[in-house]
Order: sequence, then C-alpha cells, then structure tokens
Amino acid sequence: CGIVACIINDEAAPVLLECVRRLEYRGYDSVGLATLSGDIYIKKGEGKIDDVQKRLDLTDIPGNMGIAHVRWATHGLPTGINAHPQTDCKKRIAVVHNGIIENYKELKANLEDEGHIFASETDTEVLSHLIEKYMEMGNGLEVATRLATKDIKGSYAIAVISADEPNKIIGVRKESPLIVGVGEKESFIASDVPAILEHTKNVIYLNDNEMVILRPDGVVIKDMDGNILDNKVNIIDWSSDMAEKGGFKHFMLKEIHEQPDVVKNTLMEFSEIEKVVGKFSKFKRICFVACGTSFHASLVGKYLFETLLGIPTDVLLSSEFLFSEGALDKDTLVILITQSGETADTLKALKIANKKSETLAIVNVLGSTATREADHVIYTRAGPEIGVAATKTYVCQLVSIYMLVSAMSGNDKLLAELQKVPDHMKQALENEDHIIEIAKKYKDANDFFFIGRGFSYPTALEGALKLKEITYIHGEGYAAGELKHGPLALIDDNVPVLAVVPPGESHDKTLSNIEEVKARGAKVIAVGSSKDEVLKSESHDIMGFDGDISEMLSPIPYVVPLQLLSYYISVERGIDPDKPKNLAKCVTVE
Ligand code: G6P
Repeated sequence: CGIVACIINDEAAPVLLECVRRLEYRGYDSVGLATLSGDIYIKKGEGKIDDVQKRLDLTDIPGNMGIAHVRWATHGLPTGINAHPQTDCKKRIAVVHNGIIENYKELKANLEDEGHIFASETDTEVLSHLIEKYMEMGNGLEVATRLATKDIKGSYAIAVISADEPNKIIGVRKESPLIVGVGEKESFIASDVPAILEHTKNVIYLNDNEMVILRPDGVVIKDMDGNILDNKVNIIDWSSDMAEKGGFKHFMLKEIHEQPDVVKNTLMEFSEIEKVVGKFSKFKRICFVACGTSFHASLVGKYLFETLLGIPTDVLLSSEFLFSEGALDKDTLVILITQSGETADTLKALKIANKKSETLAIVNVLGSTATREADHVIYTRAGPEIGVAATKTYVCQLVSIYMLVSAMSGNDKLLAELQKVPDHMKQALENEDHIIEIAKKYKDANDFFFIGRGFSYPTALEGALKLKEITYIHGEGYAAGELKHGPLALIDDNVPVLAVVPPGESHDKTLSNIEEVKARGAKVIAVGSSKDEVLKSESHDIMGFDGDISEMLSPIPYVVPLQLLSYYISVERGIDPDKPKNLAKCVTVE
C-alpha cells in the first residue's frame, strides 16, 4: 500500500491525488482521499486510480489538508468499504495505513464490546476507533494516536487527521516506510520519495517508533514518549521527471530503455565499493538473501563469488532465511539485495543476520530502512523504478555485484569488460522490432519453459518471472540440465522453450537440451550470439547479440531481450504491464 498526507496553501485533494498516483506501483486495488475543512470529507472506491477518479471525481472535496491511500489488500476484499481512509463512529477521525495489525481481531472484539460499530473488514479501522476512544477520554490527537499505536501489534505507517484538531496531521512509523517532505510553507508525509518529488526534495526519513506532527508552519518529529527529535533533512538528487513516463507508453518500457544509462551511473560507484571491500577479506562464507528479482541477481552473485574468489556462497530467499539462522557466524558476510530497501521479508532477515554476522545491503532507494540497518551499504544508481516488474534495478544490482567481486579479487579485466556492457544492452534495444514479431508469434501460448546453465540459469529464472508477472502466462525457469529429470514430460508442440545460450562453457550442453525439447515438438526461441550459426540453425527464433560478450557477463545484456519479450506479450494480450494484478512493487508485509 502507499500513503500520502499534506498540508498546503491550496486545495489539497488534487495534490493528494497527483501524489498518490505516483505511488500506484505500491498497490492498486482501491484508492481513497480524506480532506479536512471543518468536517472530514472522504471519497474512495474500488479499482485503479484512473477508473475510480472517472467514476467518483476524488478531487471534489474541500480543504487545504488531507490524507490519501492506494491499497494492496491484506485484510478484507478490495471493496470500496474496505478502501482507506477508514474512520471512527462519528466520522471525526480518518486514518490511512500501510502494514498489518496482527492483533486486530482481539482489539476489534473489545471495541465492539465497548459499543464501537465497525463498517469494514479492515484491520485499519481498529486504529480509527482506538484513537476515537482515547480522544473521548480527554487526550489530544497526538497523545491518542500514541496510545493507540501502543495497543497494536504488527507493522504500520499511518497518517491521521481529526476534525477536532484542524491544522494538524499525525504520522507514525513502525516497520513500514514513511518519509516526511519539508517544502516552503507546505509539508508532506509519504510512503516513498517519488510521491512528493514534484513539491520538495527536502526529505526526513522517519525511523521505527517515531512520530511526525505536520502543521502549516512546519514539522516536528517526536519519539513515542513525546520527546522532540532532531532528524536530519536530506536533499534528494532524483528529479521529478525521473518518475514520469517521458514519452514511453509504459514505465516498464521506459525503464527497460534507461538500462544502458543507469548501468553507466552504477559503474561510477566503483570507488565507493573499493572503500568498503578492505574489510571483507576476513570472511570465509557469503550468504546472499533476497526476494523476487533480487533473488535472481543473488544467484549470479553466487557463481561469481565461487568462480572468481573461491568463497563458498549460499543464496537464500528472505522468507526462508530464519530457518538457516543456525549457520550464521562472524566469518559470514550476509549480503541483502533489495531495490526498495523496504521488503518486509528481507528486513526481517537483516534483523536476524545483524545479531550474528556482518551485513551488506545492496539497495536502490536512498535512506530506505535496509540502508540504515545494515553494517555496510552499496547503492545502485537506477533512479526511481515505478513499473512493478523490476528491470533496471535488476541490471544495476548485477553491476554492483560484479564490481564488488572485481574489487575483492582485483580482477581489472572483469571491470574493463563491464564498461562495455551498456553498448551490448543498446544493441538488444535496437532489435526491438524483431522482438515484437516474436512476441506476436508466441503470445497465445499457455506455458513456456526458460532454460539455461551456469551464469545463464538465473537469466532463465528471471525471464520466466517477468513472463509470469506481466503476461499471466505460466513461465517456468529451469536449469537446462535438470529438464530431463521431470519437466521434459510437459514438453510438446504447445510449449515454447526459451533457451539462454551464450558462447562459452555451457554452450554445447545447452544445445543438446535444445535437441531434446525439439524432439518433443517444442518451438525454441534462443538468446545468444548472432554469429552462432549452429544455434541459429537449431532454434526457430533467435534474439541475437553481435558483440563479443563473455559467458560470465552475459546475464546483464541477455536479460534485456527477455524483458522486452514479456513486455510486448503483455501489451499484445491487453494487460497493463506496469500494474499486474495481485502484485505490488514494494511488499511491506511478511
Ligand atoms: C516484489 C516486486 C518484485 C521485487 C521483489 C523484491 O515482489 O514485485 O519486482 O523483485 O518485491 O523487492 P526488493 O525491493 O526487495 O528488491
């Protein structure tokens, strides 16, 4: 979910809508706004922002302050009633919330016994009734909110307004991201920086268990005992254009096209990486931890660490990490990869890892929770990524890992080769028309297999994930050599197989696997070298590269045609690739 709040000099609703639109990547089941002008005015509904706006005109509510929310449903169906803001019995309080209140059932039952009547199935509504209860006991909004948050268990970032205390918005954070924007005579709260970039670049990051009080004349940060804190104001160097589509039909397409440039930006971080690696020679084991696309970047990391440094390396899914906690020790470096720096599963793993090992986070979002909690940080320089399916952050994560290994091993050759990667990526982008043709040819398939070996195995997994995420076609990534141990039974002429086959050690064996699937009727789409005549003759379609790319570095450029293929299949199937159903960009629940 995403939340926004503002106090400005103008009508708040249009600004709230514009800000929350920039958070739509965090959820789009429903949307809602509440403004304050004497009374509280609420407009909310089920569906994507544009659809709800057309139906209800969300901006048609008065006042120069308010709160807004886009929802990714956790408790309660994505209906209009369950949309945020949620209110109390008398509709004097409105709350927006990102996170989960674990003990809401128990709290709700108690409040119902005390006479509170609930309208929705959400956990959030409990908060508005709790605040109401504490205000009725004579507390102001600030104290009532503090008392309410002490009753709840779970994670939350909230923004609250009350008709009984105009000119004030309260925000609180615990384990869900919340930032404060400090503009000239206007202030904001938001889940993420892109929401408010248009209005201010001065940002304060709230830590867990901190409260912000927004007033027309400025902001105050307090701890949960009411003591005033002195959090630093950071100046963000992202421009608001970076969070716009810039002429592309979708954010995802724009972000795919930005990849050569953002890889170059990330390469400039090498000197920063060199500064941290001095401390890393003592580690005897590496453990990568990540989710989703970041997990696939970690798998490439494993092959690199083991091939070039000979350091045993494990890769764990963040949500499974706690089951391996026993193997952590001070000789292990835990590397957490997370573009957002806010994924709940990864943050939980970070907390566990911090107790026993040293931690390094590779993160795209400046100031995000992971960057503050890890012992060391490497920033990728992808800029804001809005499309739900990760593209440019993935290639930048890969570049950071290659630079890390290159710095640790003193492998200048690898570093020199990395500099050429943006040109190889450009070539994949120039072949877009050919990829559109392939997308049209295969768009109606119900199942795809993606195969690769060694460095191409994570590319196959990532290709399959992109396909699933944005086309809703079943795509399965498999180690090419493992195909014969089961999945071969599923191959027939209805199942296209996408083979990732760079020239190198794995080449000939993967070609044999291509033979095996062809013998079962499969159509083969290959990603490989345009000079590879054997591959061309063995596959039905090829997405080829002219340049010489080593197998070790192929994961970075080779993923580009796979991203484009999924993108164009998605468009062909009439899906919005920026907002795939049931998914969210930043998953702040475990
Ligand atoms: C969600 C997103 C994915 C992303 C994953 C991990 O599932 O939809 O695109 O790869 O989270 O996100 P992180 O921010 O931790 O890299």
